[in-house]
Amino acid sequence: MNGLQGRVALVTGATGLLGSAISRRLGFEGATVAIASRDIAKAERWVGENKESGKYIPVQLDLSNEQSIADCLKCVVNGAGVPSVLVANASLREGVSLPFEKLIHASFTNLFAVDVAGHILLARRMVEGLDGRSASMVFLSSIYAQVGADRRIYPQGMSPAPVQYSAVKAAAEGATRWLAAQWGSRGVRVNALVPGGIASSARQPEEFVRRYTEKTMLGRMAAADEVASAAAFLASDEASYVTGHCLVVDGGLTAW
Ligand SMILES: NC(=O)c1ccc[n+]([C@@H]2O[C@H](COP(=O)([O-])OP(=O)(O)OC[C@H]3O[C@@H](n4cnc5c(N)ncnc54)[C@H](OP(=O)(O)O)[C@@H]3O)[C@@H](O)[C@H]2O)c1
Repeated sequence: MNGLQGRVALVTGATGLLGSAISRRLGFEGATVAIASRDIAKAERWVGENKESGKYIPVQLDLSNEQSIADCLKCVVNGAGVPSVLVANASLREGVSLPFEKLIHASFTNLFAVDVAGHILLARRMVEGLDGRSASMVFLSSIYAQVGADRRIYPQGMSPAPVQYSAVKAAAEGATRWLAAQWGSRGVRVNALVPGGIASSARQPEEFVRRYTEKTMLGRMAAADEVASAAAFLASDEASYVTGHCLVVDGGLTAW
C-alpha cells in the first residue's frame, strides 16, 4: 500500500478488538505504530506479543486527561518520530451500559470527554507538531451514527448500543468534516470510518448474529481485518484525494 512505509502512526485504543487489527495492518504496511492504552503494561504486553509482525512502541494515553495527551505525543516523538497518521479508535466502554431510564449527565459527558474532546485535542496537538508535513487521520464512527438500532434483532437480555453512543459517533462524523475543512490547505486529511457490527463470538449471542446477518447484503458480520484494511486505505497515500469523507464498511446493511 502506497504511503505508509516509514510513517509513524498513533492508534488509540490499540489493544482492543479493532485497534489490534488496525495496528497490525499499519505495521504490516511498514508504519511504526504507537500502541496506546490507558494501561502501559497492557500496551507493552501487546507489543511483546506482536513484535514479529511489525515495528511497534507502547505508549500510555488517557484521552480524558490533557496532560496525558501531551505526554503521549512526546513519548511517540521521542520513541519513533513525529506521527503523521492518527487512528482515533478508542471509545469509553465503562458506564455506557446503564438503561436509558437511568442515564445521568455523566453518562454523556464522560463519553464525549474521551471520544470527542480527547481525540480532537490529540489531533490538534499532533498537527501543531507536524511542522509543515502532511498527515492523515481516521476517526472511528459506527453505523449507529447514521441509522437507529433495530430493536427486533436483539434477543432478550441484550440491549442495543445506547443513545449516547449514537450521539458521540455522529459527533465524530461532524468533527471529521470540520477538521478536514480546517486542515485541508495544510495537507492534513481527515476521514471517518463507519463500521457495521464486527463478528466476535465472545461478545454476541448466536441469535443476534443470525438476525444481524440477515440485515446485511453480504449475509455476514464484518471481520476486524476488513475494517482494518479500510482504515489503512484512508490513512495511506492511496487515499490522497479523499478527505472529509465517511467510509461505510457494513456489508450493505445501511444501503437498502
Ligand atoms: N466492535 C464493533 O462492532 C464496532 C462497530 C462499529 C464501530 N466500532 C468503533 O470502533 C472502535 C473500536 O471498537 P472496539 O469494539 O474494538 O473497542 P474496544 O475493544 O472496546 O476498545 C476500545 C478501547 O478504547 C480504549 N479507551 C477507553 N477509554 C479510554 C480513554 N479514556 N483513553 C484512552 N483510551 C481509552 C480502551 O483501551 P485501554 O483500556 O487499553 O485504555 C479500549 O481498548 C470504537 O470507536 C467503536 O465505537 C466498533
